[in-house]
Amino acid sequence: MEKEKQLKSIREYVKNIFQDDATGHDYFHMKRVAKVAKLIAEKENADSFVTEAAGLLHDVGDHKLFNNPSAVLDEMYLFLKSIHVQDDDIEKIKIAMKDVSFSKGNVPVTLEGKIVQDADRIDAIGAIGIARTFAFGGAKGQLIYHDAHNESTSIQHFHDKLLKLKELIHTTTAKKMANERHAFMEAFLKEFHREW
Ligand code: ADP
Ligand code: NI
Repeated sequence: MEKEKQLKSIREYVKNIFQDDATGHDYFHMKRVAKVAKLIAEKENADSFVTEAAGLLHDVGDHKLFNNPSAVLDEMYLFLKSIHVQDDDIEKIKIAMKDVSFSKGNVPVTLEGKIVQDADRIDAIGAIGIARTFAFGGAKGQLIYHDAHNESTSIQHFHDKLLKLKELIHTTTAKKMANERHAFMEAFLKEFHREW
């Protein structure tokens, strides 16, 4: 029960931080990642509280999104302490969050970290992934597609990153979800080019 209350506070905290984001890192991304991460954690026998909390918090202090990441993270640790999350759980959350981002190219060390990374990747593919890609592209002012070159378009991003993600998934549970979402993206791209 205590942990349920803490998760509720963490949700509020994350909502305040990300509510105005227009680059695909909005609060609902955090909510979806946490939900998928929790589901995977239950199937893979990982620590469900740590995984869900780290899923909610995984983009806090991301260097792309914050000017002063270490100050943002220090504030987050103080917040977790203030709602009485145990020190060893804070430590586990910290470790699970550390290596999540694709751009850093790191493999998380703990099962909980691997699961949060899987959930973040799951949210980058499939129908949601397609929507986020064009939202991000729009926010950056980039073209949907260009048929003469393949630089910096949202369609190119599928080839640069999204179609590669399914091979980088760690857990069996997430792999199944990733395969379905991958197939959906391939069908989308096929139809996109047919209509183009
Ligand atoms: P993460 O922080 O999880 O590593 P990113 O910040 O790279 O992810 O991406 C956030 C969202 O924006 C994802 O859905 C991703 O596919 C999309 N995105 C990132 N870079 C591009 C790009 N160059 N063009 C279109 N979408 C992008
Ligand atoms: Ni994310």
